[in-house]
Amino acid sequence: MFDVRHRFPGITEGDHQGWARFDGPAGTQVVDSAIEASAAWQRSGNNANSHGAFPAADACDELVERTQQTVGELLHADPGGFVFGPSTTANVFSITRAIGHDLVPGDEIVCTRLDHDSNISPWMLMAEDAGATVRLADFDTTTGRLPTDRVTGLIGDRTRWVAVTGASNAIGTMPDVTAITAAAHAAGANVVVDGVHLTPHAPVDIGAIGCDVFSTSSYKWYGPHAGITWIEPELLDRLHAYKVRPAPDTGPGRFMLGTPAYESIAAIDAAARFLLDTGVDEIRCHERQLFERLLGGLLADDRVTVHGPHDLADRAPTLAFDVDGRTAEQVAVALAADRIAVWDGHYYALEVMASYGIAGAVRAGIAAYLTVDDVDRLVGAVRRIASGA
Ligand SMILES: Cc1ncc(COP(=O)(O)O)c(C=O)c1O
Repeated sequence: MFDVRHRFPGITEGDHQGWARFDGPAGTQVVDSAIEASAAWQRSGNNANSHGAFPAADACDELVERTQQTVGELLHADPGGFVFGPSTTANVFSITRAIGHDLVPGDEIVCTRLDHDSNISPWMLMAEDAGATVRLADFDTTTGRLPTDRVTGLIGDRTRWVAVTGASNAIGTMPDVTAITAAAHAAGANVVVDGVHLTPHAPVDIGAIGCDVFSTSSYKWYGPHAGITWIEPELLDRLHAYKVRPAPDTGPGRFMLGTPAYESIAAIDAAARFLLDTGVDEIRCHERQLFERLLGGLLADDRVTVHGPHDLADRAPTLAFDVDGRTAEQVAVALAADRIAVWDGHYYALEVMASYGIAGAVRAGIAAYLTVDDVDRLVGAVRRIASGA
């Protein structure tokens, strides 16, 4: 039987024991091996810097290389393309700034309304500086899906980049990023995939997707707060990186601004190893069973509105919902009184909420450490809240 709960001290020990944690899309609990790897690194004396003449400096270089190998194995990509940074948002800002250097007025970028704002605003700000235009693809609010042609239909002669999410952090939708990438490449455009919400919930194969840039954040998959961006190695060397002069002129060091957080990198390695050892497919299977129960339970109550897809196909186990007569905040506060953690608001998916014409909604996401009992508690509590009890 699938059971990883005992690996999460944040769930089984301390002040938050007994909480049902549906807040994973905002950040999961950290797996024991990642917590220990970070502490072990800091205790080891290896905390130094790269490229020195003594063993601790070598250990820093080895750690970065080893972690690039591990995330390369997890995401099926050339290890030489992985950049470690503070967050996906920070990484996307550096990359869009570099991309913007080479754009000319009249160039176009296609983004989507399904995306987290970290894959929209950096493009808009860069486009403003470069005189380029951002075109936003609408998703279908009836089905919660983003049909491929909604994106490819906006690609034209002047499109240089397409930016699309691998999975919505609000409603779970997974667009067909492989088909979108193929169409963009055929039109001569490059593709950035936001894989932050995809990585914890489905096996990722960057090589098969074929995209040029892929971002993920390890704190969404049981690791530390950090952003990991893969840039296709030739593109990585070609982009106009905004960096200090002594920083490397080739490779990921071009986009790793300042000294990397080695203790975090040690924990990223352990978290990626946890996903590899557990199997993302096994996690997906467990999450799907729980999510089916959650989605079914909420859809069965006509006082609850579930935004986004109402089925299980091509989606992450994450949903946004509202309860008649209650604000999202009221629902979240009432659930917290029952020791159930959910998020309320827009969770930076501004365009998703605007597309539905709402300010926000309650969000619940399944993570590997959740159980049937957690789901039943959530569904039962939402029913009580809806009935005014
Ligand atoms: C889908 C998605 N993309 C991007 C981000 C931004 O990630 P970070 O907090 O690492 O900047 C998030 C964070 O919630 C997200 O859910």
